[in-house]
Amino acid sequence: MANSDFALFMGQLFRRPHQVVALAPSSRFLCAEMAAGIDPAAGPVIELGAGTGNITQAILDRGVAPENLHSIEMNPDFCERLRARFPRINVHQMSAGDVGTLPVAGAQAVISGLPLLSMPLALQRDILTGTFQRVKPGGSYVQFTYGPKPPVARAVREELGLDWTVSRKIWWNMPPARVYRFTKPA
Ligand SMILES: C[S@@+](CC[C@H](N)C(=O)[O-])C[C@H]1O[C@@H](n2cnc3c(N)ncnc32)[C@H](O)[C@@H]1O
Repeated sequence: MANSDFALFMGQLFRRPHQVVALAPSSRFLCAEMAAGIDPAAGPVIELGAGTGNITQAILDRGVAPENLHSIEMNPDFCERLRARFPRINVHQMSAGDVGTLPVAGAQAVISGLPLLSMPLALQRDILTGTFQRVKPGGSYVQFTYGPKPPVARAVREELGLDWTVSRKIWWNMPPARVYRFTKPA
């Protein structure tokens, strides 16, 4: 990660703490775990809360064609940086709550760097409902969390009937984190 990206992240953390909600950008170890299930031949990928692009880079490192990556970010300064850093990906400046309206069909996964647990229940519901409108059957919603509980509220998990798996703890991240993969059985 370039020093200028780190400085931008910390500046936005200071100005918009309730949107960024992280002590630092995700480490390359956490980013690699977030992208671990991606198959470049399995269809488009949607990313939520791309920030300065650390997870974006890990998704591209899996071999995904840049044109097949759709990164949603609401912060205009982060969007500008993403477009400069990854000129061929699709950067959408919008709320992740509108992911269901994205003109992308049959995505293999939605990879989220959002601070989901700190969001209101209604926004979580919009994000998860929209996700499962955009992914193909068997597709997943991937979300990291620093805490001990699943990062999707119980009410939303139960409404949508979600199953999940959880990774080992990624210690080389500040703070350490786990990655959850949520799927919706047919
Ligand atoms: C914890 S940072 C993660 C940044 C980066 N993905 C990483 O892992 O280093 C959360 C990001 O989500 C973005 N964000 C927060 N709420 C959002 C929303 N409703 N829609 C889209 N992006 C949002 C913030 O602007 C910020 O870039």
